[in-house]
Parts: sequence; structure tokens; C-alpha cells
Amino acid sequence: MDHDRICNINEKVKKALAADQRRYIHSVAVANTAMCLASCHGADLENAYIAGLLHDNAKCIDYAEQKAMCRRFEIELSPLEITNPYLIHGKLGAFLAKMKYGIEDISVCEAIKWHTTGKPSMNMLESIVFISDYIEPMRHHADNLDRVRRLAFEDLDKCVTQILSDTIRMLEANNRPIDPMALRAHEYYTK
Ligand SMILES: [Fe+2]
Ligand SMILES: [Fe+2]
Repeated sequence: MDHDRICNINEKVKKALAADQRRYIHSVAVANTAMCLASCHGADLENAYIAGLLHDNAKCIDYAEQKAMCRRFEIELSPLEITNPYLIHGKLGAFLAKMKYGIEDISVCEAIKWHTTGKPSMNMLESIVFISDYIEPMRHHADNLDRVRRLAFEDLDKCVTQILSDTIRMLEANNRPIDPMALRAHEYYTK
């Protein structure tokens, strides 16, 4: 891994998330978890670490500003994202990964883009970041976490399936909206 490059991105993320120190600590935890999964499954360690570190880079921008940035940069938002702006930070974060953090590798940006909802047929890096966001060591609220953490190192697809099923069940139980992309992902992984 390129130490100087990691330090440089790390300093910028720390600044971007300065309003919420827990978010920064979560981001470092996701980066470390993603790197462990990458070494287990044979993915690129540096890409996994950087995608993890940057996955929530847009999370501390206030919602009005996130929407304004999407308009300015012509990032299309779905009706659900407009009414539930906490869903925007994935696609805005992917855009900023390229424009602000200089990430040229499209696979890193795509992994950031889909980290909240997942999508059908995720590649290895996308699955690793999606899973790492859910299982990093400070997470402790989700159902079946022991099983999900074990599956993460045994079978990425089975792990993604379990996370999608548990997340959708939790959202339904709490009457919260479910992003159509998460439903499509769930359909893909359970068929
Ligand atoms: Fe996120
Ligand atoms: Fe996150």
C-alpha cells in the first residue's frame, strides 16, 4: 500500500468529517475491516482500504447542501432520495471521491456509490465495502451479527444476502422506506 497516499486521503477525510468524530472513527474501522476482507478473498488491499475510508465522505455535508451539490454537478436523485436525503451520500460521495480526493479507479467510486443499498450482482470490492459498513467492530445493533461476521470471511454472496434480508426486515418492521435498489439487490441474491 502507498503510505503517503493513504495519509493524504486520511487527513482530508478527517477534515471532511470533523463535525462528527464517531463518523471518522467508523470510517477508519470500515477501511480496516475492508482491508481484512480483501486479504481473505484476494481483492486489492489498497482499493479496499481507500473505499472504506471514503465511503461516508459526504455524510457530514448538510442535506440542503448535498441536494444543491447534486443539482450543481448534475447527479440525478430519485424521488425517494429527495424525500429521504440520508440516502444521497453514497452517490455524492462517489462523485467527490473522484473530484475532491483524486480517486481515478472507477471500481473504488462504484463501491462507495452502492455501500448503503447494495445492488444486484455486486463485484468483490462492492460486496466488501457493503459488508464492512455493516460489520465493522463498533457496530452492535443489527440482528445475526455473529453469523454475518462469520459469513463475511466464508462466502461474500451469502453474507450480502443475509445483510439485505435482515436490513429489509428491520426497515419493514419500523415502517421505514426501502430503496428500490435494495429490493432489486435482495431479489437478485435470494433467487
Ligand atoms: Fe453510509
Ligand atoms: Fe458507513
